[in-house]
Amino acid sequence: MFKKIISAVLILNFSFLISVKADEGMWLPLLLKQLNESDMQKNGLKLTAEDIYSINKSSLKDAIVQFGGGCTAEIISDKGLMLTNHHCGYGMIQAHSTVQNDLLTNGFWAMKQSDELQNPGLTATLIVRMEDVTSKVLAGISDTLNDAVREKKINEAINLIQKEAVKGTHYGASIRPFYYGAEYYMFVTETFRDIRLVGAPPSSIGKFGGDTDNWMWPRHTGDFSMFRIYADKDNNPADYSSDNVPYKPKFHLSISMKDVEKGDFTMVYGFPGRTNEYLSSYAVDMIMNESDPSKVKIRETRLAIMDAEMKTSDKVRIQYSAKYAGLANAYKKWIGEVNGLKKLKALSKKKEFEQNFLLKVNTDDNAKGKYGSLFGSLEKSYAQYRVLNKERDYFYEAVLGVEAVSNAYTFINVIDSLKSGKKQADLEKDIAKLKGRVAGFFKDYNVKIDERVCGALLQIYFNDIDKSRQAAIFSEIDKKYKGDFAKYASDIFEQSIFVSESKCNDALAAIGKNYKKIQKDPVYILMRSCYDKFAKDVSPQFFKLDAEIAGLNRTYMKGMRELLPEKKYYPDANSTLRLAYGKVEGYIPHDAVYYDYYTTLDGLMEKENPLVEEFNVSPKLKELYLKKDYGQYADKNHEVHIAFCASNHTTGGNSGSPVLNGEGQLIGTNFDRNWEGTMSDIMFDPDQIRNIVLDIHYTLFVIDKYAGAGYLLNEMTLVK
Ligand code: ARG
Ligand code: GLU
Repeated sequence: MFKKIISAVLILNFSFLISVKADEGMWLPLLLKQLNESDMQKNGLKLTAEDIYSINKSSLKDAIVQFGGGCTAEIISDKGLMLTNHHCGYGMIQAHSTVQNDLLTNGFWAMKQSDELQNPGLTATLIVRMEDVTSKVLAGISDTLNDAVREKKINEAINLIQKEAVKGTHYGASIRPFYYGAEYYMFVTETFRDIRLVGAPPSSIGKFGGDTDNWMWPRHTGDFSMFRIYADKDNNPADYSSDNVPYKPKFHLSISMKDVEKGDFTMVYGFPGRTNEYLSSYAVDMIMNESDPSKVKIRETRLAIMDAEMKTSDKVRIQYSAKYAGLANAYKKWIGEVNGLKKLKALSKKKEFEQNFLLKVNTDDNAKGKYGSLFGSLEKSYAQYRVLNKERDYFYEAVLGVEAVSNAYTFINVIDSLKSGKKQADLEKDIAKLKGRVAGFFKDYNVKIDERVCGALLQIYFNDIDKSRQAAIFSEIDKKYKGDFAKYASDIFEQSIFVSESKCNDALAAIGKNYKKIQKDPVYILMRSCYDKFAKDVSPQFFKLDAEIAGLNRTYMKGMRELLPEKKYYPDANSTLRLAYGKVEGYIPHDAVYYDYYTTLDGLMEKENPLVEEFNVSPKLKELYLKKDYGQYADKNHEVHIAFCASNHTTGGNSGSPVLNGEGQLIGTNFDRNWEGTMSDIMFDPDQIRNIVLDIHYTLFVIDKYAGAGYLLNEMTLVK
């Protein structure tokens, strides 16, 4: 057994030496010593793996924060000061904004600690330690178990191990599968709950270039915002209290003031969300030819309607800013992903790889037994899955894309419990929750937008979904309105409680009596028809196939690692802590075009356009530019660098991640990927893929010279 492990490690390491390019891969901090340290040092790392991740001493990992649900942040002072992206703080900045006091437009700087703004619900999570728990989780799980039993047993084991790991502490624990469940790692975490907003530039800096430049290089966005972790007097997590004090971290990053140069070693330390590098050709085919294009089409319609309305009023613009940005972001990414996959010929590459795999399989009877029927099964499953996946996409994107429908959707639980007549212990709580949610919903709701969206999205659903598979209400609408979905939308919006805050609140106030009436609300009827169809004819089959495919993917993954060991297999991103490394470099996006690795304030001024909001430059920034008042933030040629790009493998969730040099010092904050590289979640191309990084010089320049909040620099550790 032991010999086997050693030879496996040797094969891995050996293959690593011959085929690994520095840039592909999101590595587990725990395994850096074994898998990456020497390669990283060869490429310019001056630290050891132990400096990056250790449980025996403080290390870089103690400064890496999972910020809110989906971003990363880094601690940059011994007073818990955190740096992340503007777009990561966006929802919070919006929540503090009103038409009179518009922090999105004007920016915000707490000039003293007592001015820092609290953000209910926002959390910051640190990793205490991680551990390989594969053998514990898979103890007693044999290959022959059926999927349902297997899953149940694994979940039981996971719950037990997690509970045991944090007994008697305030820590959390979460165990996640890697390599489609071939391995399991546990993350013990500490989550802080009092996180305050310290500073944010105006959108003209933090979102410069807006959705036009989003996902694009060259870039001039000052995409940062700052927060602070507060703890109780014992430095432990606590709910917000005015008695809380700034958190004293085990470690904070120092900041490099040196110019970033082409070829410099870089690493990105953070929480990448999701990649799917080992999918079969059947999955890739579905994504690029069906799923991405239909979601793009639906969102395009929705965004155009929002955009038109947002331009007519400041109130609507603020209300819809975060929603719009979120929708537009994935929309644009999917377009880039499809383009990138096509350009890379991803489908034929996948098929070729599968052919090679099959060749291996067929040389060995044992392998034939295990993997011989794999692709046949995948093909069969995906033929059905594809249909259900489309219906699922349309349910979430088109049906629930109507905000009134998604509002009604959140009433299902409460109404169904009232209907059942059974006394539900949690009913009162659920109703209270619903009231809170409804208040939040209407804060950012515009009925005019939604009515138009409703007409347009239902029309798309009606046109695109096979008639025999549509929710029953569509044939009724078709009969009554002769295909005029706009008219239908206008009629139901006139009557529904779900589009009016006061009507909705009235209905909620006595929902125990009103629930029968609410069930007759036309938006509720629409939602219910679509939801019932989905719950009956889509969801169960979808999840059954999903589990089946997960099992096939697990087998495929196992087979790849077994039969084609010369390829390297880092685990797909799954929102756990990872390290990627690469170097600062430009790229050739198209024939005869070269993109250099950095952008400057001069370049921002070239993009200035007073007529287009996304490209407005504030007078103050322009003044600094004209006076060349750059202080210590300019490079040796007296230019201020804004952003640079590098070849680190990143994905959504890496936003806000620290980008570090070979000494582990902060040189920038990751905030995007280039458009030519957005397919890297599915297939990586080292020539095309770059992560986009806000240069720390520009961040400090904005804080100090633009905002006059230079006092914040006093708590940072700058290395000249
Ligand atoms: N594309 C980046 C990411 O995926 C930034 C998104 C925020 N910016 C925007 N213009 N919507 O999150
Ligand atoms: N902006 C992304 C985020 O929010 C990072 C870009 C990417 O997907 O690589 O995490």
